[in-house]
Amino acid sequence: MIQKMKLYGWLPVFFSLLLFSSCERDPVVKEELPADNIYFVVPQGWPTPHYDFTGNALTKEGFVLGRRLFYDTKLSKDNTISCGSCHQQFAAFAHLDHKVSHGIYGLLGIRNAPPIFNLNWHSEFMWDGGINHIEVQPLAPITNPVEMDEDMAVVVSKLQGDATYPKMFKDAFDTDIITSQLTFKAMAQFMGMLISDKSKYDLYTRGEATFTASELNGLSLFQQKCNTCHTAPLFTNLQYMNNGLDTVFADAGRGKITMMAADSGTFKVPSLRNVALSPPYMHDGRFNTLEQVLEHYVHGVKNSATLSTELTTPIVLSSGEKADIITFLKTLTDNTFIKDSRFKDPFTP
Ligand code: HEC
Ligand code: HEC
Repeated sequence: MIQKMKLYGWLPVFFSLLLFSSCERDPVVKEELPADNIYFVVPQGWPTPHYDFTGNALTKEGFVLGRRLFYDTKLSKDNTISCGSCHQQFAAFAHLDHKVSHGIYGLLGIRNAPPIFNLNWHSEFMWDGGINHIEVQPLAPITNPVEMDEDMAVVVSKLQGDATYPKMFKDAFDTDIITSQLTFKAMAQFMGMLISDKSKYDLYTRGEATFTASELNGLSLFQQKCNTCHTAPLFTNLQYMNNGLDTVFADAGRGKITMMAADSGTFKVPSLRNVALSPPYMHDGRFNTLEQVLEHYVHGVKNSATLSTELTTPIVLSSGEKADIITFLKTLTDNTFIKDSRFKDPFTP
């Protein structure tokens, strides 16, 4: 009886705590990681990565901190937009259904948000390669007036004044004095861990899955027509190319960075891993479906001074062959990656 009384006596306190914690965001955050931990291995048969965390030792604490920063709206001026707003895990960290980025105050950017994975193999970032280090990359969206519109000094002071971050920086970097550099290092640990290497295609190449006749035919056609630019295993050669979208360029792409006529209208070849998950397509999101993309390569390639030589002779594909290529492209979807709980938003329990 006394036991029961005690319990009932505590109930109101318990409920008010519950109520309190559902309004307060911080206490419900789950930073726990599953047992399979945080380490970086180069998948078998892949090239040597450009970035291997040298000078930024990868730790569980650094990764967890980077993940929280990636999903934290505090990084934007009005605390409404996080990196994860435009880079969604279910879309392989692209922005599903958005032609161009949709940022702070409802403002639109000029380019389609690319997916984020296997970044350690990139030496340059963005469609035009305008950023040349993964550890400075976040500065661009944070300060961009149509993305997050914030000042790094303000971000740092918001984080320093936060109840959680100083301890997390202390755990990760052995100091609770927060700096932009450490903020970016933690974010590089999170982004560098986003490895997508478990698609059906990967299982097939490791002899752990079989392809259907249509997938096999698609693979073979892909190797003949597409692989010079979308080169396996990353499915990009990481070069800047013009795939014939326009005759006159509304966006000069790489040409904006180098100011060279030879680069005008060229863009970093996007990886086709997870491509079925991240429509719309191209730097300006002009195509909604893979069928439209294939139609472009067969009938829509436009001539211009910088058109890649691979595409000056039209690609010939029957409708059955186009369908087989699309069937093959779907084998590049990595469900393990998009469901990996290590990469989930820690703010949504
Ligand atoms: C408003 C939407 C938006 C937000 C918010 C945003 N991004 Fe992006 N992100 C984009 C767009 C659009 C691009 C392509 C920009 C370009 O090419 O000029 C991009 C490009 C990138 C790339 C380059 C990928 C590649 O393949 O080269 C990385 C990495 C990235 N963002 C990480 C981040 C991080 C980290 C944050 C948070 C600090 C962030 N993004 C916030 C829209 C967004
Ligand atoms: C000459 C190099 C080249 C060849 C060959 C090539 N592509 Fe591309 N591809 C590109 C470039 C560059 C882009 C990005 C263009 C842009 O957005 O301005 C691209 C974009 C794409 C996209 C959109 C990806 C996204 O995330 O937006 C798909 C899908 C695609 N290509 C599929 C193919 C297929 C399938 C083939 C073979 C039939 C092929 N490509 C052949 C260079 C090439």
